[in-house]
Amino acid sequence: MAEKHEKVVLVGDGAVGSSYAFAMMQQGIAEEFVVVDIDKNRTEGDALDLEDAQPFTSPKKIYSGDYSDCKDADLVVITAGAPQKPGETRLDLVNKNLKILTTIVKPVVDSGFDGIFLVAANPVDILTYATQKISGFPRNKVFGSGTSLDTSRFQVAVGKKLNVNPQSINAYVMGEHGDSEFADIDEASIGNVPLVEFAKKNGVTKDDLLKMEDETRNKAYEIINKKGATFYGVGTALMRISKAILRDENTVLPIGAPVDGQYGLSDIYIGTPAIVNASGVAKVLEVPLSDDEKDKMSASAKTLKETIDKGMK
Ligand code: 2OP
Repeated sequence: MAEKHEKVVLVGDGAVGSSYAFAMMQQGIAEEFVVVDIDKNRTEGDALDLEDAQPFTSPKKIYSGDYSDCKDADLVVITAGAPQKPGETRLDLVNKNLKILTTIVKPVVDSGFDGIFLVAANPVDILTYATQKISGFPRNKVFGSGTSLDTSRFQVAVGKKLNVNPQSINAYVMGEHGDSEFADIDEASIGNVPLVEFAKKNGVTKDDLLKMEDETRNKAYEIINKKGATFYGVGTALMRISKAILRDENTVLPIGAPVDGQYGLSDIYIGTPAIVNASGVAKVLEVPLSDDEKDKMSASAKTLKETIDKGMK
């Protein structure tokens, strides 16, 4: 049986977009990959540069295109927008990036696009919400990178400390992809052993875990202060989510999900694990949370709602 032809359009060919394109090329995901940006020279240059990697990886049609290429795409990934400067929060970008987003979503929809929107530009939870509103697409066909990167940051921190492969750390960072996020430390586990217990046996206290959560929350600031921007981590997280969509995987991934009653929340996109497949978000999970973590989830949602109310309504 012939494999399904996978087509992805990337909108936004900055550092995050091109790192994502590179990750997709390395992993051999999507037979057709189109790069769109207002800077045509940049997309043409990137397409030429990326196609040179093909003989070492996998064949792929990769080219610089425009919004009309979205028509028959399975997935449109939006990374376009101003990045954070040192000292700026993600929420500080809301007005600037909402304006840019409006100029993108309409032409994508006008192309006849009927696939899935994956949003990564910041503040990602707000811009994902706006993408769904502007497009009028079903909520499960629009979602954000949410706390996927933050979850990997926490897994990396804990994995390093406890000398365990980060992939074996079952923990999620939840809430806003931003300053109000938190990790579900009380429910997290390693090989079914509760994380707090596993850590204690290895001389690591819950306070130490909370410190790792804090480092996770601030890691983007640390990287931005040192090198001006973050891109490899998020580019790879986007590749992982794209793979789950294009290969119809039904994989549980932490994303910016359209909650509908989970955690007592609705009409918002927020970081939580969800089942991802070719339909987009197949199911948003409501993971068990301690009372303290439930409060953190509500507070994080409140921050997002307030930003939506200020910025969009
Ligand atoms: C990150 O967390 C800046 O949102 C970007 O790396």
